[in-house]
Amino acid sequence: MSHRFDTPAPEEIQPDAFSFSEENENRVKGIIALYPEGYQASAVMPLLDLAQRQMGGWLPRAAMDHVAEFLQMPRIRVYEVATFYGMFHLAPVGRHMVQVCTTTPCWLRGSDGVLGTCQKVLGVACGETTADGEYTLTEVECLGACVNAPVVKIDEDYYEDLDPESLERLLDKLKAGGAVTPGPQSGRTASEPAGGLTTLTEVPQPSGGS
Ligand code: FES
Repeated sequence: MSHRFDTPAPEEIQPDAFSFSEENENRVKGIIALYPEGYQASAVMPLLDLAQRQMGGWLPRAAMDHVAEFLQMPRIRVYEVATFYGMFHLAPVGRHMVQVCTTTPCWLRGSDGVLGTCQKVLGVACGETTADGEYTLTEVECLGACVNAPVVKIDEDYYEDLDPESLERLLDKLKAGGAVTPGPQSGRTASEPAGGLTTLTEVPQPSGGS
């Protein structure tokens, strides 16, 4: 698979039509009901997300058009949203999305090496999918977890405090079908100080009240 997912898929694989499954149509109604009357267009992102999940990870034009129709929006406004946000894919992607954050905090903490490891282990460049259709590699802006930089998001999970070695181990395990544990890979809990706790080292006791 060499087609980039940030440009529309070729015509030959664009389905002629799209509609939400019965289960998703119920979800759509629930999502739309969250917005005040007249502001249904605000549901465009969750609806695109649902359509993308139903399609196995990408948004054909027919799905965007269906969302536009559902929300009574001009199609172009839906295309604008789908092409602006990196979370939406306009062409098929691999079974797993590997998103490497390369924004400043992650870059300062070694995201170049992390990205290089992904390219080496997966054998693809950014924006490409492995030949077996398993992994798509991409570079993204801040994932909002800078305190645990550098960060890679794989599917729905964050892998943090990475270095090339820990990431290589993680990807090898994933490729072999093994279980991997999301979160910091450095051994620390959440975003505790890297060198161990310096304050609040024991559970504070309530002070005697008057
Ligand atoms: Fe990478 Fe914020 S810069 S998570």
